[in-house]
Amino acid sequence: MIINLFDLESKFSGNLPEDIEGYYSSGARDEITLKRNRSIFNEYEILPKFLRDVSHVDTSISVLDLKIDSPILLAPVAMQQMAHPDGEVGTALAAKKFNTIMTHSTISNFGINDVGPLHNKLFFQLYFSKDREFTKQMLQNCKQLDYKAIVFTVDAPRLGTRERDERNSFKMPDNLKLGNFIGTKFEDFNKIENYEGSSMSIHSDHLFDPTLTFDVIGWIKETSKLPVLVKGILRPDDAQKAISSGADGIIISNHGGRQLDTAVPTLKQIEPIRKQVGNQTLIIVDGGIRRGTDILKCIALGANAVQIGRPILWGLNYAGQEGIELVLNIINNEFTESMILSGCRNIQEIDRDLVVKR
Ligand SMILES: Cc1cc2nc3c(=O)[nH]c(=O)nc-3n(C[C@H](O)[C@H](O)[C@H](O)COP(=O)(O)O)c2cc1C
Repeated sequence: MIINLFDLESKFSGNLPEDIEGYYSSGARDEITLKRNRSIFNEYEILPKFLRDVSHVDTSISVLDLKIDSPILLAPVAMQQMAHPDGEVGTALAAKKFNTIMTHSTISNFGINDVGPLHNKLFFQLYFSKDREFTKQMLQNCKQLDYKAIVFTVDAPRLGTRERDERNSFKMPDNLKLGNFIGTKFEDFNKIENYEGSSMSIHSDHLFDPTLTFDVIGWIKETSKLPVLVKGILRPDDAQKAISSGADGIIISNHGGRQLDTAVPTLKQIEPIRKQVGNQTLIIVDGGIRRGTDILKCIALGANAVQIGRPILWGLNYAGQEGIELVLNIINNEFTESMILSGCRNIQEIDRDLVVKR
C-alpha cells in the first residue's frame, strides 16, 4: 500500500539493476550530507496556531511571474529513462497536470526539442560546457522553445565522487541516448569503453567547466535572454554575489548530497541566506524534502518554494507519468494538511514564528 513517499522509495530500491539504483540513490563519499539533509528536519519543530478558520486554504504562489498551484517544484534530475521509458516526457506532463514547474536537466534522455513543446512552465538546467559555442546554442534553443528560465548549476566544477558508482562501474545503458547531445561532439559520451569506475566522471570532465566565476551569470542572461536562477548556493555571501551579478533568484542546494560530502544541510542555510539577500529575492530550496511538514518548515524559515529530486524517480519507476502524479498528489495533500493543522490559510501566513529549533 502506498501512503507516503517512503513507500515508493522502498518499492524503488528492489526494482532496478544495482548500478542504476546506486546511481540514483547514492550521495558523495560517506553520504553524510545525504543523510543530514533529511535528519535536520527533525531538529525544527512546529508551533501550530488554532481557531483561525482554515476552511479554505490557498497553496498557490508565483515564481518569476508564473502562477503555480503549490510551492512544490520538480528539480532537475538526469537520465530519467533509466527509471521508466516515460522519462522526462512523463515528468513534464505530470508537472503540467499539477500546474507546477519542472526543471529539465542538461543530461536528460529526452532533449529540449521533445520536452519543450509539452508544457509552458519549464526551466532548463544548465551544465556549462567548456565548449562555449555548444552552451550558447543550447541557451538560444531554450529561448526559442519557450523555456521560462535557466537554472545554472554552480556546485559542480567537477563531479563529486559517488563511491557506489565507482564500485559498480556505472554507465548509462547503451540503448538510451542523451537527447541534448544528439548531433553534437558530445553525442558519443556513452560509447566510452575500457574505463574503470563510473563513466559519469569521465563525461563530466568533458562537460563541466571549472574556470567559471560569477561574471558568467551576466553572459548566460545575455545569451539566453531568460531569467537565471543560480543553483547550488549554500553561503549567504555567495547568494549575495549571485544576485549582485544579475541572478534573478537562487536555489539553496547541495545537489542532494551528491557533490561535496559533509557540506552543510540545506534547511540550516535558509534563514541566514534570507537575512542576507532580503525579502524580495526568490529563494528555492531542495534536499531531503519528503513530507508536507518539511515544506512548511522551509517556507517558515524564508524559502519561497521547494523542489523534490529523487521522489520523481521513485514515482516514475513505480508507474511512469502516473507515478509522478501520485508523488505530487501525496506531497501536495500532506502540505495542505500541514497548513490546515498549523493555522495557515495561504503561503504568506507561514511565518517565521511557526517554527522553533529544538
Ligand atoms: C539521480 C540524480 C540526478 C541529478 N541530476 C541533476 C542534474 O542533472 N542537474 C542538477 O542541477 N542537479 C541534479 N540533481 C540534483 C537535484 O536537482 C536536487 O538538487 C536534489 O536531488 C534534491 O535532493 P533530493 O533528491 O533529496 O530531493 C540530481 C539528483 C539526483 C538524485
